[in-house]
Amino acid sequence: MADTTSPQPSTSDAVDWESLRLRAVELMERAYAPYSRFRVGVAGLVDDGRVVAGCNVENAAYGVALCAECGMVSELHATGGGRLTAVFCVGGDGQALMPCGRCRQLLWENGGPRCLLMTPEGVLPMSAVLPQAFGAEDLRHAEG
Ligand code: THU
Repeated sequence: MADTTSPQPSTSDAVDWESLRLRAVELMERAYAPYSRFRVGVAGLVDDGRVVAGCNVENAAYGVALCAECGMVSELHATGGGRLTAVFCVGGDGQALMPCGRCRQLLWENGGPRCLLMTPEGVLPMSAVLPQAFGAEDLRHAEG
């Protein structure tokens, strides 16, 4: 089951948001988006200090496209796991982009309610970005 109690930065001030944004922009520039031409990059701070990142990767079978967040979460697990504590997703203009609904679920699974997300309206916790989220706790409650 996902651990939702890992240490988090106490405040948004503890996060170097500009470094995360610059890493997300680097990844956005490597996006493979020949079909939509909509490039996305994302970078996430892990609770052990690592930074993981990803870009979107599209496919001629359009529905197979991988969002940038998928790549980031894959790097998270491939490099040792841990919990996301702060995430910055950018579009082609290098500015904050809201993750799609599916990717908010990915962030919830791997960061939990206190994971911070940079949004166009400033930093928000995932509890505000995905209210009443479905998560591991719900599976436990459903056990009969
Ligand atoms: N995309 C992402 O990479 N992440 C999101 O959260 C939103 C959408 C990508 C998928 C597709 O390659 C392109 O943006 C247009 O939808």
